[in-house]
Amino acid sequence: MKGFNTRAIHVGSEPDPVTGSVNPPVYLTSTYAQDAVGVIRFSDYARGDNPTRAALEACLADLEEARYGVAFASGLAGEDALLRTLAPGDHVIMGADAYGGTYRLLTRVFGAWGVSVSTVDLGDADALEGAFTDSTKMLWVETPSNPMLTVVSIDALATHAHSHGALLVVDNTFATPYLQRPLTLGADVVVHSTTKYVGGHSDVIGGFVATNNDEVASQLKFHQYAIGAVPGPLDCYLLLRGLKTLGVRMERHCDNARAIAAFLVNHDAVEDVYFPGLAGHPGHEVARTQMSDFGGMVSFTVRGGVDMARKVCESTTVFTLAESLGGVESLIELPSVMTHLSTAGSTLEPPANLVRLSVGIEDHDDLLEDLANALAI
Ligand SMILES: Cc1ncc(COP(=O)(O)O)c(C=O)c1O
Repeated sequence: MKGFNTRAIHVGSEPDPVTGSVNPPVYLTSTYAQDAVGVIRFSDYARGDNPTRAALEACLADLEEARYGVAFASGLAGEDALLRTLAPGDHVIMGADAYGGTYRLLTRVFGAWGVSVSTVDLGDADALEGAFTDSTKMLWVETPSNPMLTVVSIDALATHAHSHGALLVVDNTFATPYLQRPLTLGADVVVHSTTKYVGGHSDVIGGFVATNNDEVASQLKFHQYAIGAVPGPLDCYLLLRGLKTLGVRMERHCDNARAIAAFLVNHDAVEDVYFPGLAGHPGHEVARTQMSDFGGMVSFTVRGGVDMARKVCESTTVFTLAESLGGVESLIELPSVMTHLSTAGSTLEPPANLVRLSVGIEDHDDLLEDLANALAI
């Protein structure tokens, strides 16, 4: 197998056989001419297949070391397509720290449809064991998680899930396949918000689900077609373009995040820093074994409570106050009232004074100066 960056640049993007174009064409078509009734060259309709989408699916599946990859119009659309493999009465366990939108989808959309959800501290093996029921079909995990950067052992969780006949689903949005490949560690399904690091430039919304499980793959493909939350060809092209630089961007994100975490740890205005690269982080050793670096996300709590945390978020000038993450530009946000508002009152609710940073690839001295100024307010 060729190296990650070579595959990120070439898989699915071989020169176009007709023109030699080094980039795949953006196939702006909704349908395909048939040679005779039912005699189809590529597909009968673009909800079912599109060549630009197929190029993206081939590339990202390859990077996740998956046999199958299915692209969707958003991360949540991909999660929805996967969760529709469940039936009313089924049960899902999810880690007690996760993106608020995933929690909302599971509890409010699938909950209303008859799927039950338990949230568990995945670091507590007894609690996890006790949460499984005869109806548990999925264990849903983010590692590192959003926004607390919790790290859990994919290998150990796969053993738990499989001993109960459940699938292990890993949201790999924060790590990306450059840093971590969950299917090689025992996970059954990987989900992505490609909106984030895969796109990498905050200019597209997308989702992706990868698996080596034939049955799950065929249901995903069916749901992609039958429900129809498909990405447009231009979005697929932007995501393919993002993939080509994923490796170099991630290295820079990781270096900048490491420098920022080291700075925050020693700052008087900061209570606690959550970054798996810190030796004192509870998931540090696991992260060292299952990731090749620690990622570009850093969270921290601010002394002085939510009001101070809000002031910090509103005082930076290089970090932009905004939701989302994974772009080249640095972002700052207050999860409890922004990305994770839908977890209010639940066990997933983050501390009110928690600030989350998506560390971009700007010059790290500028980022450190910006944070130093904001924390001095
Ligand atoms: C970890 C994680 N998973 C899934 C999603 C949902 O993705 P999207 O916003 O593309 O629907 C997000 C969005 O922030 C996320 O952070």
